[in-house]
Amino acid sequence: MTTLKACLFDLDGVIVDTAIYHYKAWRRMANELGFDFTEHQNEQLKGVSRMESLELILGWGGVTLSDEEKNKWATQKNEWYLEYIHQMTPDEILPGVKDFLESLRKADIGIGLGSASKNARLILEQIGMVDSFDVIIDGTHITKSKPDPEVFLLGAKAFNLPPADCVVFEDAVAGIEAAHRGGMKAVGVGSAEVLTEADIVISSFTETSLSKLSDELLGWQ
Ligand code: BG6
Ligand code: MG
Repeated sequence: MTTLKACLFDLDGVIVDTAIYHYKAWRRMANELGFDFTEHQNEQLKGVSRMESLELILGWGGVTLSDEEKNKWATQKNEWYLEYIHQMTPDEILPGVKDFLESLRKADIGIGLGSASKNARLILEQIGMVDSFDVIIDGTHITKSKPDPEVFLLGAKAFNLPPADCVVFEDAVAGIEAAHRGGMKAVGVGSAEVLTEADIVISSFTETSLSKLSDELLGWQ
């Protein structure tokens, strides 16, 4: 039976819409290399590490680079990305997120972050949410990226909970798979057409509440 003792949240696309900044920065790189890619292709980059994203994008453009050039472009992309991040404010926290976390806090349910991003802490600082999380696992703690479950398993471990007591919130197909591979239920945040493997999908946190989610959880028994 699934009980709800902790929630593990992805960051990019769940707490804030940084996915659009990743897309803009990667697209700028692709354009400089002489090609473009679509928003649809960009879905495949969600939840995926910086270097793996770079490999995918270069593959789409049919571009071959040396390791040195790859590192140079990954650094350049991150610099462009950070220009966007440094402009972020708490206004960019996605609708309903704060209220939902508040309801978890009141119910004594653990609140964790499980992000592939090495910039996660900086983003949380920008939006004033570092203290909103009891546990923060990010791209600096992991060796394998989603769909590997490592990031969420480390989250459960930090709470000293079995995976089945944790529920993951994810906007990425790779993140939903990571949750399931780790033995956790997954709430998709976004489009039900994209997140077909999620246990339930919400389009936004304004659309759910802890009691509604608990009802759904009981239905998962
Ligand atoms: C994930 C994003 O959260 O972090 C991916 O969904 C991104 O798009 C990955 O590539 C790594 O982010 P960063 O900030 O370390 O380059
Ligand atoms: Mg995400």
